[in-house]
Amino acid sequence: MPVAVVILAAGQGSRMKSDLPKVLHKVAHAPLLVHAMRAAQSIDAERIVVVTGHGGEQVAEAARDYAAETLLVSQDEQLGTAHAVQQAAEVLADFDGDVAVLYGDTPFIREETLQNMMDARAKGAGVVVLGFEAADAGRYGRLVLDADGGLQKIVEAKDATPEEMAITLCNSGVICADRAVLFDLIAAVENTNASGEYYLTDVVGLARARDLPCAAITCPEAETMGVNSRVDLAAAEATFQAQAQSEALENGTTLSAPETVFFAYDTYVGRDVIIEQNVVFGPEVTIESGALIRAFSHLEGCHVSQQAIIGPYARLRPGAEIGNGARVGNFVEVKAAIVGEGAKINHLSYVGDAEIGDDANIGAGTITCNYDGVFKHQTVIGARAFIGSNTALVAPVRVGDDAMTASGSVVTSDIPDADLGIARAKQVNKAGLALRLMNKLRAAKAAQNKDE
Ligand code: UD1
Ligand code: MG
Repeated sequence: MPVAVVILAAGQGSRMKSDLPKVLHKVAHAPLLVHAMRAAQSIDAERIVVVTGHGGEQVAEAARDYAAETLLVSQDEQLGTAHAVQQAAEVLADFDGDVAVLYGDTPFIREETLQNMMDARAKGAGVVVLGFEAADAGRYGRLVLDADGGLQKIVEAKDATPEEMAITLCNSGVICADRAVLFDLIAAVENTNASGEYYLTDVVGLARARDLPCAAITCPEAETMGVNSRVDLAAAEATFQAQAQSEALENGTTLSAPETVFFAYDTYVGRDVIIEQNVVFGPEVTIESGALIRAFSHLEGCHVSQQAIIGPYARLRPGAEIGNGARVGNFVEVKAAIVGEGAKINHLSYVGDAEIGDDANIGAGTITCNYDGVFKHQTVIGARAFIGSNTALVAPVRVGDDAMTASGSVVTSDIPDADLGIARAKQVNKAGLALRLMNKLRAAKAAQNKDE
């Protein structure tokens, strides 16, 4: 059955105390909204509709940045969850299939859970709701089941009787039904309740009144966690990281101290990668199998190939492409640079806007001077080249295959293949001058001490 997903993201999120719309706050480097969009993608949603309201333009832009084909509708006044979903009626009018509703501030709904809901639909439930056993049911809507275990209705806490308040099976907010049925039911929802809002949850009672069977599927409470405050946001980050760390271990990655490794939402790590303590991943990192990421390294927007060794204390920035078996050592920063197979940049270097050939060796303290204040320029270093320590490569510049630079050189013009480039002042030794100078200074100090 084809499915479309409607993501509710119109709420203000005033408890975040932020100028940024709530759903744009990030967990693991992705906005909460993107986490919800990824959940929709996990079940191959044919259409994703985001309902925007507060900060609508910003939210729309973030949604389109992530997936250009996202459909956007706005809810100018927040009159309740049913009213929010109703805004999507028009863009889905020609959609033949199911509609699932997710919240933009609820980032952790798993594919498997959504699949269970689809399965319940396939087995004949007209409306399927995702519930969970709440440790503290508080203000959640309560799922009222009938004697056969079917879902009878959902009661909002504000409208519940004391008996209903005692129910611990709560509504996550995720709901799924046939598109035509859902919008038909929503059209019948009224706002005669304690909040004066159009409750999406009312569709269950309305469906039952039409003899449409409804079902509740459950998932662990942690999965339904919503973010309403900065405290929630920090808790969501911790939940994400704990999950990512255990997934990495399960998928064949060694983590020396799992709780100190921070993943991004899209970090890809191959088998038999070893990640030491205190490593941080920004977005868009892929690590191939057998690589070693040593302690205190920071990686973002980069690719590390098999058997490469990164760190300790390395920084890989966007566009760093590290070849098989290459090494990037301590206090080395690499940006927008291709580092060839077996190449070594072991100590204290900046390599930006560059190409480093296979098996080249970049000496300690080498800097690519890539920026002239206005433009960026390329540095190309050939295969097997040997860059002497403390070389400044003033780009644009090319060092040929098998070429060398003398330590301390400031290289401003190309060095042909196999040549040695020396670009520094010639050394002059003054015979005995060091000792004579020192003796003179010591004598001056002795004279000064006597005067005092
Ligand atoms: C809702 C459910 C409740 C459930 C709880 C789970 C209803 C009536 N109640 O309650 O049963 O236990 O979520 O967290 O659905 N939103 C809009 N437009 C609106 C109203 C809400 O986009 O007009 C968005 C909010 O930004 C939020 C989500 O929908 O992301 C849920 O709205 P919220 O006001 O938090 O609903 P709850 O009262 O928590
Ligand atoms: Mg809520």
